[in-house]
Amino acid sequence: MKINNRRYIGCKTKLLDYIFDAATEFHFSKGDCVADIFAGTGVVADKFAQNGFKTIVNDTLYSNIVVYKALLGEGEIRTNVIRDIFKQLNLIDGSKLPENYFSQIYGGKYFSNNDAKKIGYLRDFIEGNKIKFNEREYFYLISSLIYSADKIANTVGHFESFLKKTPEEKGVVLHEFEINNYKYPSKIFNMDANQLVLKIHADIAYIDPPYNARQYVNFYHVLENLARWNKPTEFEGNSMKFKRNELKSDYCRNKAPALFEDLINNLNCKLIIVSYNNTYKAGSISSVNTISADHIINTLEKKGKLTVKEIKYKAFNSGKTELQGHKEFLYICEVGK
Ligand SMILES: C[S@@+](CC[C@H](N)C(=O)[O-])C[C@H]1O[C@@H](n2cnc3c(N)ncnc32)[C@H](O)[C@@H]1O
Repeated sequence: MKINNRRYIGCKTKLLDYIFDAATEFHFSKGDCVADIFAGTGVVADKFAQNGFKTIVNDTLYSNIVVYKALLGEGEIRTNVIRDIFKQLNLIDGSKLPENYFSQIYGGKYFSNNDAKKIGYLRDFIEGNKIKFNEREYFYLISSLIYSADKIANTVGHFESFLKKTPEEKGVVLHEFEINNYKYPSKIFNMDANQLVLKIHADIAYIDPPYNARQYVNFYHVLENLARWNKPTEFEGNSMKFKRNELKSDYCRNKAPALFEDLINNLNCKLIIVSYNNTYKAGSISSVNTISADHIINTLEKKGKLTVKEIKYKAFNSGKTELQGHKEFLYICEVGK
């Protein structure tokens, strides 16, 4: 299993070569540092780390941090220990398990009841046996559970809501990841991007904020709850979202243009690469972009010399909104030029 084997809105897997080429075109290479400050799945940082760059990764969702610590972080992973434990855990039959926290909340909705029982059981097992694993292995086990839960979820690819049909029993199987031990393990942060940029400097900053009013924590609340495992008991609506106001992003609100400007002003780097698209006229209001192209251009032009690259590309979305003529842009700014 690879870092990109999950469904994540706005994931840049298909754009990796364009982003990487943008950096090398401006003469950055091995040993230079890239800060991926809205890192989502972490695939962009991973691409740079694979090519010998130093990387900084950040996101506000803890479920993403867990994956960075497992796949981009440092520390040994004892393959034989992981293999043995997966063999043992994969044999567990969900139908023989008692109800638990996870099955009582999400069973019969996002997962069949037996699958939900197994997911909850495995997460409790990882927590209860934490002492047997080193830190990276602990995060690796949770990451594998996150990826398998995502794979079998009764959704269109995110957890804003579950499908009306009764969830089928699919079986929860933990898979090993392909792990690269990079020359430079990532520096990992779980912070608001605007706060982070006051603390770091990098050669390149890659900026890929949310594009519209749709909150990432609403898309991935089930996985976030599974990762955090502090077992909240209050939920909202039929979709069972836990209370999460502090995890909602102002980049999905009217404040987004001002925040973007503040972020760019405070960035301490030589090259800025911003990803953004052109869904200004999307079918649903919540899919309309929060930051205008003019605002991105004006803000970046104050910081340095701007080059805009247009990429024709089919985005991953839930399938409900048809994005005609969808285009993705890279705004590349040479700071101080
Ligand atoms: C468009 S996605 C990034 C996708 C990523 N480039 C990838 O390829 O997977 C935007 C990310 O920004 C995160 N985010 C939202 N607001 C944030 C903030 N204020 N600071 C840091 N991360 C934030 C979201 O959780 C989400 O993962």
